[in-house]
Amino acid sequence: MSGGVSEDDVAELFAAARAVQERAYAPYSNFPVGAAIRTASGLVFAGCNVENAAYPQGSCAEASAISAMVAGGERSIVEVVVVTDGEALSTCCGGCRQRLREFAGPTTPIHVADRNGIRATFTLEHLLPHSFGPENLGGF
Ligand code: THU
Repeated sequence: MSGGVSEDDVAELFAAARAVQERAYAPYSNFPVGAAIRTASGLVFAGCNVENAAYPQGSCAEASAISAMVAGGERSIVEVVVVTDGEALSTCCGGCRQRLREFAGPTTPIHVADRNGIRATFTLEHLLPHSFGPENLGGF
């Protein structure tokens, strides 16, 4: 595994994010989101948003994907795809940028997609500059 990111890798990750978007539980916002993460060992983990009648208890798709990744024994994110609907480009919310920051590096690509494919690509550092992370606490 070179650690590089190929077109095939992005296509596979997009397919995983798109598939899980279909499983989103978003009856309140009607804004289904799917996220897929590739880890350093090449595994893919996906998650969707899961809303709740007590609104603040809902989870973002990225948070669900990160939970699946950690539960699967992985901790190093090398690439992310997030699929949403709507005309406006939807990047990860602030909280999810920080969640990704815990397990991704500054140059980790985060692809933002709609149902038709990737619309834009950012690095984590681009989305969350001058960020706070595990190194700030030392020893990690
Ligand atoms: N949402 C995500 O899943 N990820 C984001 O980065 C932005 C927002 C979800 C949360 C909520 O279920 C719905 O989208 C509308 O905010």
